[in-house]
Amino acid sequence: MNSDILLGLQWGDEGKGKIVDVITPKYDVVARFQGGPNAGHSLEFNDKKYVLHLIPSGIFHPNKLNVIGNGVVIDPAVFKKEIEGLGLPLDEVIKKLIISSRANLILPVHRILDAANEKSKGAKKIGSTLRGIGPAYTDKISRNGLRVGDILSTNFKKRYDEHTARHLATIERYNFEFDLAQYEEGWFEGVEIMAKFRIENSEYLLNNLLDQGKKILAEGAQGTMLDIDFGSYPFVTSSNTISAGACTGLGIPPKKIGEVFGIFKAYCTRVGNGPFPTELLDSTGEDIRKAGFEFGATTGRPRRCGWLDLPKLKYAITINGVTQLFMTKSDVLSGFGTIKACTSYIVDGKETTELPFTFDNAEPVYKEFAGWSGDITKIKKFDNLPENLKDYIDYIEKYTGVPITIVSVGPDREETIIR
Ligand code: GDP
Ligand code: IMO
Ligand code: MG
Repeated sequence: MNSDILLGLQWGDEGKGKIVDVITPKYDVVARFQGGPNAGHSLEFNDKKYVLHLIPSGIFHPNKLNVIGNGVVIDPAVFKKEIEGLGLPLDEVIKKLIISSRANLILPVHRILDAANEKSKGAKKIGSTLRGIGPAYTDKISRNGLRVGDILSTNFKKRYDEHTARHLATIERYNFEFDLAQYEEGWFEGVEIMAKFRIENSEYLLNNLLDQGKKILAEGAQGTMLDIDFGSYPFVTSSNTISAGACTGLGIPPKKIGEVFGIFKAYCTRVGNGPFPTELLDSTGEDIRKAGFEFGATTGRPRRCGWLDLPKLKYAITINGVTQLFMTKSDVLSGFGTIKACTSYIVDGKETTELPFTFDNAEPVYKEFAGWSGDITKIKKFDNLPENLKDYIDYIEKYTGVPITIVSVGPDREETIIR
């Protein structure tokens, strides 16, 4: 059997958590392959909302395995808090959740370094979630990291102290005030909880399960425009958010990848800094933010809002090899009279559909669409959607050459149209 991948095609927050939860019944395993607690994946069912940061979005389904893969960076303090907030008995979660021994740890000093680093950038700051992601991946790549498997070794505390001392020397140079103790207590409690879980080389488990015919869904975090190689660098995260990241982040070979589900909002949002050519700085942007409740699931920051950017969507489809598109938040655009989508850019006086090296000077060219109105959240059949929404969907499918097979019309599990 092959592993399918679900990932974001924009700047994150496309609704990955919701849709993973909806399609989990078709799978045996849900596995996170990159990112860390910078992610905030929201799920809604039975009138309750949950936000997951590290735990895969299949966790609420019975009899499904969830794996935190080697490509993820884990903060034990966040892990502990999240486990406690699930509302599930600990022994049930321990049965359902496996952590890769090769995943790198986010240390308390990584969070401090992240904050010190951002502060030193002044106006050029990335707008990081300040969860220690960049410094943890930096340690990983420079071969200085501590990994989950290390927490089981007898000299773990000694190694922790050595790593911390090394970073404290760097932080001193920043002239940055901090309180390490504030983070350390919860961190070590989190390490104790993690040690109760199955910590293993999960690449064996995942490949064995595929050989036995089991179905795996790899769950992406962030989005393609935040990818370290292909996103709007340097305003990106520190991991490969694209489909190739699922291979390196889980140990699944490319020939065992099946469908690649690319998820996007009917418009665009971005939280944090960096170029956003279709951003709406007027009242329409404000109206989208209000209607879509566009505030970060991790930091609560208001998300910047704008029209759909089709050249970027097409780029993301190419880079990821997307085979099916899922469109979310169609309900949010209800009542917006006219809707726009960017179909090309003007760069240095020339029209192009290619993304420039930096997006700074890309002037969007828009196509207008007649909008739709009314509450569409209870519609169950694609055919019953407003004609103008169907026309919008049809245009996106023709532009990208990829079918839109799921249309999400609300945050709840039930508010999903599968074609
Ligand atoms: P993720 O990071 O990709 O999992 O997305 P987030 O959870 O950060 O942000 C998506 C937000 O939109 C969450 O509040 C979801 O509950 C909500 N959401 C998801 N799909 C829909 C939809 O189709 N319509 C509406 N109105 N909200 C949605
Ligand atoms: P999910 O999985 C939206 C953004 C931050 C910042 C940049 C770098 O919920 O879609 P980092 O903390 O990685 O150093 O931040 O990336 N960012 C996200 N934006 N959704 C996310 O995750 C994000 N994770 C990071 O706002 O601009
Ligand atoms: Mg999110």
